[in-house]
Amino acid sequence: MNKFLEVAIEAAREAGAMLRPAFDRPKTISYKGEVDIVTESDRHAEELIVARLGRHFPDHGIIAEEGSNSAAAGSRYCWHVDPLDGTTNFAHGYPCFAVSIGLMEDGEPIAGVVFNPVAGELFSAARGEGAYLNGKPIRVSSVEKLAHSLVATGFPTHQRKRSANMEYYWEFTLRSHGVRRDGSAALDLCSVACGRFDAFWEFRLNSWDTAAGVVLVREAGGAVTDLAGQSYRPGGFVMLASNGRVHEEMREIAAGIAERAAQNA
Ligand code: IPD
Ligand code: CA
Ligand code: CA
Repeated sequence: MNKFLEVAIEAAREAGAMLRPAFDRPKTISYKGEVDIVTESDRHAEELIVARLGRHFPDHGIIAEEGSNSAAAGSRYCWHVDPLDGTTNFAHGYPCFAVSIGLMEDGEPIAGVVFNPVAGELFSAARGEGAYLNGKPIRVSSVEKLAHSLVATGFPTHQRKRSANMEYYWEFTLRSHGVRRDGSAALDLCSVACGRFDAFWEFRLNSWDTAAGVVLVREAGGAVTDLAGQSYRPGGFVMLASNGRVHEEMREIAAGIAERAAQNA
């Protein structure tokens, strides 16, 4: 197997093995923003992952959510790590969270691992090598129309009142089987990759939320762009990930919402 993926899988499993029992214990939370929570487990998971990646790839850069970043001047490779995606769920005892580890080469996502330790589901993908759930190949769904789709979104924890997403949430809810808001962007992208969701969109995600999931969706046969149809890069302003078949329809609807918002501004 791809050496990058092998190490990322080991790191995700190690962090997940720590997070699973921690999920059943009382948590101490602190606040990074108004509703932006962090727990001891976020930091502990990050330490484990960063230490392992650093041992195996001392020349690579690392950008991790809780701040253990290393630049590695001149390296073409950078790891984007979310040690616990879905912290709010974790803190409230809602079993929907994951470890997300993505690798970018010259700014392009090339490998990704997302591990949900409660479900025991490990999603992995490398560019050109397919996408897998617990070692079995996965594909996006074959749903053709938004009206027959189950889709997902999320909302930022920062600058909440400035988010335009309520309009999109409203419109897509009325035009689909429903919109889920499950609180882990990394798992939302995995759900698109394995066909549980037909599409997912969100504004202002960070590179550590999406670097792994983007590879998973693309390798599973899906599309990941911004709302203008340009290829999405982790850290971009908005992402639309889908099975590819409902992509244009969703982009057209999004364009209509943006146009109406501009007229009313
Ligand atoms: C959050 C989750 C959530 C998304 C937020 C993210 P965190 O990440 O992915 O689904 O809607 O935008 O910040 O804080 O749990 O790592
Ligand atoms: Ca996150
Ligand atoms: Ca996180």
